[in-house]
Amino acid sequence: MREILVTSALPYANGYIHLGHLVEYIQTDIWVRAMKAQGHQVTYVCADDAHGTAIMLKAEANGVTPEEQIASVKASHEADFSKFLINFDNYHSTHSEENKQFSELIYRRLNDAGHISTKDVEQLFDPEKQLFLADRFVKGTCPECDSPDQYGDNCEVCGTTYDATDLKDPHSTLSNATPVLKTSKHYFFDLPEFEQFLKDWTRSDNRLQTSVANKLQEWFEAGLASWDISRDAPYFGFQIPDTPSDEPDKYFYVWLDAPVGYMASFKNLCDKRAGTDQALDFDRYWAQENEHKTEVYHFIGKDIVYFHALFWPAMLAGSELRTPTGVFAHGFLMVNGEKMSKSRGTFIKAETYAEHLHPEYLRYYFASKLSDKVEDINLDLEDFMQKVNSDLVGKVVNIASRSAGFLVKKYDGMLSEICVESELLEDITKTGDEIAAAYENREFSRAMRLIMQCADKANEYIDAKKPWSLAKLEGTEQEVQDVCSVAINIFRQLMVYLAPVLPELTNNAKAFLNLDDLSFASRNEWLLGHKINKFKPLMQRIEEKDIEAMVEDSKASLTQADAPAATESSKPAAKDKTPATDANTDAEQIDYIGIEDFAKVEMKVAHVLECNHVEGADKLLQFTLDVGEDKPRNVFSGIRKFYEPEQLINKKVICVTNLAPRKMKFGVSEGMVLSTGEPKTGLTVVTLPDACVVGDVLA
Ligand code: MSP
Ligand code: ZN
Repeated sequence: MREILVTSALPYANGYIHLGHLVEYIQTDIWVRAMKAQGHQVTYVCADDAHGTAIMLKAEANGVTPEEQIASVKASHEADFSKFLINFDNYHSTHSEENKQFSELIYRRLNDAGHISTKDVEQLFDPEKQLFLADRFVKGTCPECDSPDQYGDNCEVCGTTYDATDLKDPHSTLSNATPVLKTSKHYFFDLPEFEQFLKDWTRSDNRLQTSVANKLQEWFEAGLASWDISRDAPYFGFQIPDTPSDEPDKYFYVWLDAPVGYMASFKNLCDKRAGTDQALDFDRYWAQENEHKTEVYHFIGKDIVYFHALFWPAMLAGSELRTPTGVFAHGFLMVNGEKMSKSRGTFIKAETYAEHLHPEYLRYYFASKLSDKVEDINLDLEDFMQKVNSDLVGKVVNIASRSAGFLVKKYDGMLSEICVESELLEDITKTGDEIAAAYENREFSRAMRLIMQCADKANEYIDAKKPWSLAKLEGTEQEVQDVCSVAINIFRQLMVYLAPVLPELTNNAKAFLNLDDLSFASRNEWLLGHKINKFKPLMQRIEEKDIEAMVEDSKASLTQADAPAATESSKPAAKDKTPATDANTDAEQIDYIGIEDFAKVEMKVAHVLECNHVEGADKLLQFTLDVGEDKPRNVFSGIRKFYEPEQLINKKVICVTNLAPRKMKFGVSEGMVLSTGEPKTGLTVVTLPDACVVGDVLA
């Protein structure tokens, strides 16, 4: 029996749970249930991530204390999770005594070992609110392209990344005041010291998915930087211990104590269970010397890999604690092929979903889509309805409803003493090994496919035997009972296989089948001469109108005020100058667009008539392009650093011709020249063979 501790990322305590979050909690919960069903001792803990500026401001906006704010959000999170049958062994908060103790312990050990240093940092400060402004709370004009209303870390128009202090005409989004520069001392964790450790850790023992390990490789190549782990008061969090008394209060940055929350929640559970027969030993899971006795896994979204695969193991190793056995990242949720959208009603709260549809539908649909890869998953609402109705209602539940009636009515619920199709049953029992392995490897879509193949076999068998016709004939009593008994036995196997995904349905089936165990091993004992109970419908079909109502409700219920804000705490500070900023920007996420959107982009073959430097702009080149229209177009492109104008004159390039003209400091840009690469490291203009005809549309 393996001893396994599992976590899901800790949701922020400033917003509600939505279907995107649920990808993760459902994925983790299925894995935990599957591993428990295989007889392992698995403990699943989570907590609310309660600290940070965003939560402090949210409380202020709601006119409550941060403590009141996080208490009410925690209650709503727990209610949502329980509706979706997420079976945490413990749900705690990072704003807890345990978390304070462990955060301080880890910090002190890192400090004693010389891994903490201090440095003065100059930052924008809101003189009205009296607080330092994270990048997300500053807006101004882009220093590069002059677009107004850009955030403090990068320009959404030209894509340039910069420091908030570089913005022109900056203003605080909190008070509208003009920020001033202010210096304060910050505490840094020396991540570069752990480079070799992390390189080894990343590549050993299958800890990370290949694509994640490759991403880390890129970060190593870009170079690790020290991590700023402090924030100045006012801040909702834990004060950094042992700081000199003449300094204003220093707090741990929320991401320092957030992962420590995994340990804190587990410790809280250990204390609750002390002295019971379910007692857990904290050190057995977290002491370095026990690292190989137990396993620890973190399930996370792809946006927070940096924190879990770099900072967290480095913090643990540096404070002589065990590091995780594995970190499993999943992709993001799309709805109907697009990013969740409030206006389309596809930004769906867990609560809103549950008012209209059974949570197990979603559990099954996610399971049928999830793999061990970091791919985004798409909830296509039409496909969702079809799949649930055809697989669960049409195939699985149907097996029981087609056979239970005869058995209960005619044989008092008694199954045959013998199995007349042992080959078929053995086949399905054997497939169970593959299904168990697929669950363990987080290949849930494969598991669901295998299960549906078993269901198909059962239905084919029933269709071939036609017990409803047999029952009308004379002298077929035994055969009808035998056929229905085979069907019920297969149904029981399917319930075992689906139990991790559909705990409620399978629990009801357990009552119907008169069983008290649906563990994986239990399927090896066939039900012979066993009495079942009356069948009650186990699942209703999804109706189109329920989905429509949910979407309409989502449009209505999402006002600006309760929408989850982009939080300061979701991103490492840009100041860290680590590639960590990548880890959270949209660049990291694939924002799918529909083919219709793509078709809207018009690209034409263009002839470069002129190409010039732009006086006063060290990043721009100005193009005069013939795109086959009456007049040539004027286009600016940020490639000055990579080209001399002569290199491009007379070349055939690709121009996006239906972008709205953009007014820039140096003139109006009437299109965009396509290039590949990265504005930071190098851009290559895509050139076309001379034979291409100017003005032709690229298809
Ligand atoms: N508080 C941090 C995690 C700290 S863990 C020590 C956080 N919170 S979150 O509420 O923003 O997200 C919680 C989890 O849900 C993250 O793993 C995140 O990746 C995941 N998801 C949030 N939105 C999601 C989608 N739209 N799709 C899939 N997963 C998403 O990050
Ligand atoms: Zn810009």
